Amino acid sequence: MSWIKEGELTIIERFCANVIKAGPMPKHVAFIMDGNRRYAQKCHVKRQQGHSEGFDKLAQTLRWCLNLDIREVTVYAFSIENFKRSKEEVDGLMELARQKFSRLLEEQENLKKHGVRIRVLGDLPLLPLDIQELIAQAVLATRNYNNDVSESLLDKCLYTNNSPNPDLLIRTSGEVRLSDFLLWQTSHSCLVFQSVLWPEYSFWNLCEAILRFQMNHSALQKARDLHMEEGKRQQLESDQAYVTNKLQQEGSASHGDSQRRRTLLQKYTALREERIQSFLQALEHKRVDFLERLCTVSA
Ligand code: IPE
Ligand code: IPE
Ligand code: MG
Repeated sequence: MSWIKEGELTIIERFCANVIKAGPMPKHVAFIMDGNRRYAQKCHVKRQQGHSEGFDKLAQTLRWCLNLDIREVTVYAFSIENFKRSKEEVDGLMELARQKFSRLLEEQENLKKHGVRIRVLGDLPLLPLDIQELIAQAVLATRNYNNDVSESLLDKCLYTNNSPNPDLLIRTSGEVRLSDFLLWQTSHSCLVFQSVLWPEYSFWNLCEAILRFQMNHSALQKARDLHMEEGKRQQLESDQAYVTNKLQQEGSASHGDSQRRRTLLQKYTALREERIQSFLQALEHKRVDFLERLCTVSA
């Protein structure tokens, strides 16, 4: 049997899925799967059993997402802070991750047919040193071009760069914090906090979260559009400031000749984009290199 549980939804679930799908759907959902130990305590089972049921719940949730045409899911399965838990618990969690995720990777080819991709994300402190160095070098190289460094460039430097930001982030177990998860990427996401413990998560809980996303959809969209416009405006303003500065250095009249100003602005913008592209290409090469080395070491 597939790890992402096979099988269809029940008739009533299917009906509700179709009703929900008539509205705007999140394309990318992120989960903070919290509450495994409280679930174990509540059900008088061992802690490891709670974690194991948590992994099984992930498999079930991925199936619901597939049925709801949600093709991109990011999950918070373990945080750096979690290493501070007892050795026994960390070892148990690592063993579960090895078993369950290696099964998922074996099924990767099959999942690709459904448009599902698997990606493992690292934390910023885990960024390989040479990539950190490359970013530092790039910042140094562009120190005369301060306006190369923008929010959109930082966005493209993250591991999550080739994936859209989550539309919806769900945290279970009633905790209302992000615990360092995708802080940058969720600034315009719909955040839904639900009191259910993760191993008890149900299809209906997922529907409720999506409904909350739908109720907030137009406000979210508006905020995103405004933010994007603001980013573009700031970039244009800083390019214009650069050109003004340049004209002043050349000794041109303060307003310069408007044709010359326009030409300079176009040229400067094109050069900036070129610099950014070559930096991003170098970053991507470093990343691929690093991942290939990692695969060779762990093979
Ligand atoms: C989330 O459940 C799973 C992991 C952090 C690995 P917890 O283990 O945090 O369970 P609670 O929140 O203490 O109940
Ligand atoms: C959060 O772990 C990360 C996961 C749920 C995987 P915790 O449940 O330990 O979160 P904090 O430290 O209490 O915020
Ligand atoms: Mg917890």
